[in-house]
Amino acid sequence: MKEFYKKIKHPDESKHSKALQILKYIGQDGSEKDINFELFAAQNFNINSSFNKLFSFLSLQNKPVKIIEIGTFKGGLTVILDTFAKAHNLDYSLCTYDITDKLISKDVKEIFEELKVELTIKDVFSDDGKEIIDLISNPDYITVLFCDGGKKAEEISKFSKSLKTGDVILGHDYGFDAQEFQKKEWNAYELSFSQVASAYNSSNLRFLFKDLMEDSVWFCARKTNPVGKTLQILTVCNEPYVDIMMNLIVSLETYHPEVPVKMLSLNLSDESKKRFRYHSNISFIDDTYSDFKNFEEERAYCESCRTWNTKNILSETCSDVFYIDGDVYLEDNVYDLLQFFEYTDFCARIKIDNPLRFNAGMIYVKNTPDNFKIIEEWERETRKHGWVWLSAQNELGNVLERHKEKVVVKTFPKKFDGIDTNPETVLVHMKGPQKKKR
Ligand SMILES: C[S@@+](CC[C@H](N)C(=O)[O-])C[C@H]1O[C@@H](n2cnc3c(N)ncnc32)[C@H](O)[C@@H]1O
Repeated sequence: MKEFYKKIKHPDESKHSKALQILKYIGQDGSEKDINFELFAAQNFNINSSFNKLFSFLSLQNKPVKIIEIGTFKGGLTVILDTFAKAHNLDYSLCTYDITDKLISKDVKEIFEELKVELTIKDVFSDDGKEIIDLISNPDYITVLFCDGGKKAEEISKFSKSLKTGDVILGHDYGFDAQEFQKKEWNAYELSFSQVASAYNSSNLRFLFKDLMEDSVWFCARKTNPVGKTLQILTVCNEPYVDIMMNLIVSLETYHPEVPVKMLSLNLSDESKKRFRYHSNISFIDDTYSDFKNFEEERAYCESCRTWNTKNILSETCSDVFYIDGDVYLEDNVYDLLQFFEYTDFCARIKIDNPLRFNAGMIYVKNTPDNFKIIEEWERETRKHGWVWLSAQNELGNVLERHKEKVVVKTFPKKFDGIDTNPETVLVHMKGPQKKKR
């Protein structure tokens, strides 16, 4: 999108020393059009990367998008947002609010009209925010709310309450704290994390594309639900599994980039890790154990190590853990599953009820003291076998059979059961030696 706007130096260096001049936009007919008058946006050039990432993510969500901007100012960012939406083929509509239109020229209003951008001149707080709240709450689309008005922290605090699960909220002139902000190419520091921390927690927000967004001085978070708020995904990979694992990593980045992924990396090369960094929220737990007699032992170790790595996350964080095998992938978001997990201690695909037998390819564990003890027992029993294929899966059955009266153990609902022949499931466990996507 470089050629659509350029970086300019403001004559008053102390104010908007780095801002953008908009040169082109994409018309309703899809053609590029020149802007032959001066139109500026008070934005850092790094939005080129961060908004590309955001809009490409939005375009993959199988749902229309409503873009709302608070703070039209001269209309520069509005035109940029519309151009990003068109460049990414979004099914969207865009509306923008400002308390005054004194800086919005006739030329800009004509572009808005052509682009069907809805401009509303009002104080967004005037009706206790009802107009914006009604727009946000509409279930027919994903809302993306850009808070760039006069009181960014208040805008985020007030309007985040009405977001739907999966919606996105942003706030401009942001630095996580003063120290972080100093590193950015920007002067106006109007928003810090501490100002929105309470809204972040109470509205179940989670950072989205955190580093990229912060480089463009935007706060950006996605609304999730109580389980989604602290969940961590765990997976395990060794070198022969890298290509298969890429399906999981790409699909997690497509549908849940806000959920951190921890990958147990068994002797993975730097090259492979680089490929997995496609995910914006991945970290590695390096494991260099290599005392294997043969490939079968290494494979069995990879199967067993989910037990102690789940335990470690439970003990080191407040997060619940969702372990997912590398040959699973997502075809859509799994927010309804996270909702289902809320009143569940353990979830795994039950193959036999009595005695309990599971497929251990996907295991959810809620972080409670009792569940932690059960996971410790699972690890202990698994280790007794040494590196034997399916010892973790069998011991999951044995251990939960002993504790099933004390904890809530559930199987996956049909929409998420992983079975590749079930057309309803959006979590797919690839089967067979080919491990192909369906
Ligand atoms: C920093 S500027 C927006 C910059 C613009 N988004 C851009 O990137 O070029 C803030 C704008 O918010 C508007 N504003 C301030 N308080 C507002 C309110 N309560 N409701 C609506 N707009 C407001 C101001 O009039 C001003 O135009």
